[in-house]
Amino acid sequence: MAVLRFPDTNEMIEGESGIRSTLAGLGIDYERWSLDRVPPDSSADAVLAAYADEIDEMKRRGGYVTADVIDVNPSTPNLEAMLARFDKEHTHDEDEVRFILAGRGIFFLHISGRVASVEVGPGDMLRVPRGTTHWFTLCEDRRIRAVRWFQDTAGWTPHYTDSGVDKGYQPLCFGPAYFGPHVETKFNLNA
Ligand SMILES: [Fe+2]
Repeated sequence: MAVLRFPDTNEMIEGESGIRSTLAGLGIDYERWSLDRVPPDSSADAVLAAYADEIDEMKRRGGYVTADVIDVNPSTPNLEAMLARFDKEHTHDEDEVRFILAGRGIFFLHISGRVASVEVGPGDMLRVPRGTTHWFTLCEDRRIRAVRWFQDTAGWTPHYTDSGVDKGYQPLCFGPAYFGPHVETKFNLNA
């Protein structure tokens, strides 16, 4: 489950429906998807095959032409350089759509003068529309695995705003400890 915060006011939104409706008000799609389709250590091809129906439906919804699985962990070559591309406020010419399979990270969304922090984890699907000012970073364990959709892979290039707004926010991760003892999620999260 995601953790939605508004750091400027120390406001935290809890619960799936509250998070979904609050993000919807900001133009951001948020859904919870089942993780029980494949074992956690499945190959990228197995993940794409297992979620083919959902992936194709998302392509139809958003006009995406391709999807892949990104897998980042502390041993990923040039990890810090990769993260540094996206931890400064930027926009893209296409949507940023992620279904998180493993790991955690934070999307900071700067919308209508207000910054929302969305910590995403396994089972979270987030769609950030093109043109939305945002930045992203991983939590301390430097781990994330996610399905990504693209309208045009060339479009997923950051356009930096150079606003400096990102410097005012700590990448503070709460979960999954925030929700109690860490338990591997193997049940149907949509049940
Ligand atoms: Fe981005």
